[in-house]
Amino acid sequence: MTRTRDASPVAIPGEERSLEASLRPQRLTDDEYINQDTVKEQLRILIGAAKSRGDPLEHVALYGPPGVGKTSLAYVIARELAVPIRVTSGPAIERAADLAAILTSLENGSVLFVDEIHRLPRVVEEVLYPAMEEFHLDIVLGKGPGARTLRLPLPKFTLIGATTRQGRLSAPLRDRFGATYRLDPFKTDALERVVSRSARILKVEIEAAAAHEIARRARGTPRIANRWLKRVRDYAQVQHDGRVTLAVARQALAALEVDDAGLDKDDRALLRAIAEKFGGGPVGLETLAAAVSEDPDTIEEMWEPYLMQQGYLKRTPRGRVATPRAYEHLGLVAPASATLWNGEE
Ligand SMILES: Nc1ncnc2c1ncn2[C@@H]1O[C@H](COP(=O)(O)OP(=O)(O)O)[C@@H](O)[C@H]1O
Ligand SMILES: [Mg+2]
Repeated sequence: MTRTRDASPVAIPGEERSLEASLRPQRLTDDEYINQDTVKEQLRILIGAAKSRGDPLEHVALYGPPGVGKTSLAYVIARELAVPIRVTSGPAIERAADLAAILTSLENGSVLFVDEIHRLPRVVEEVLYPAMEEFHLDIVLGKGPGARTLRLPLPKFTLIGATTRQGRLSAPLRDRFGATYRLDPFKTDALERVVSRSARILKVEIEAAAAHEIARRARGTPRIANRWLKRVRDYAQVQHDGRVTLAVARQALAALEVDDAGLDKDDRALLRAIAEKFGGGPVGLETLAAAVSEDPDTIEEMWEPYLMQQGYLKRTPRGRVATPRAYEHLGLVAPASATLWNGEE
């Protein structure tokens, strides 16, 4: 079975990665980088000020769920600054020497984008602190009383760190970012603009009502909106004349098993497992993960946020619980106790 909701760049299928690259916004303008108006406004000021002073941009931390535009924004920032960008990720930097190699090879003023920065090993993080603060590396030579520290100057750079987990970032690292932005899930009208923009780039003829339908079922996530658009387009080409009408969009989404609420079969399988295998819960994350053969982190980071936001699932101190809304959505009868779960813990 192919997983379609993984966050890490390596887990995104190749085809989708090239789609993402072609649809990636280029500039900080409202028609390119859609939505996130407050973030854009603050960034314009930050970028403008850095440019007029001739300084590198302050280090920037980006928080937000998968697929809401963190990586895109890093590229946009580099482009607005007209500097090169170097892209890596927390898990890819295993040793302090790996980071040292990257830092020493940066061009002056450039952007270093570290995705999943919460997964940087601690020893690597410690090398990063003086690099971020004063643009130097401290290299320890020798051991014991005779050890000496060699201070190596680095090119000036801007670190852009992205994470889905604000709480997982260590305090010392968090404190070293000059600016921190949260990218929130998109409202339907903003997603509609994403779909229209992507349709233009992909040269897909699409009705406004169809764009709305795709946006409405895309779980607040531009990446998912683009994914549905592409699949709907394929369907329209194979089954129809290529034009994406509302009827075609609905048929295609039904064929993809995306239901009216935007839940796909993985979402429904998760809710069904809680309802049918664990009597509605509470069930611990690990147990639930084993029941649906999925990694607990993936469930927590990719699946649950939307299900919780939409009121299908709750996290309680004793585990996950399916709400009456989930039962209703699945067409199951909720146990009598289920009404209690809608209350506050
Ligand atoms: N603000 C935006 N405006 C237009 N398209 C966007 C925006 N944010 C994301 N996208 C689209 O969604 C895709 C996934 O975004 P990405 O930046 O990779 O998300 P993240 O890094 O947060 O997982 C991009 O390729 C882009 O096409
Ligand atoms: Mg990303």
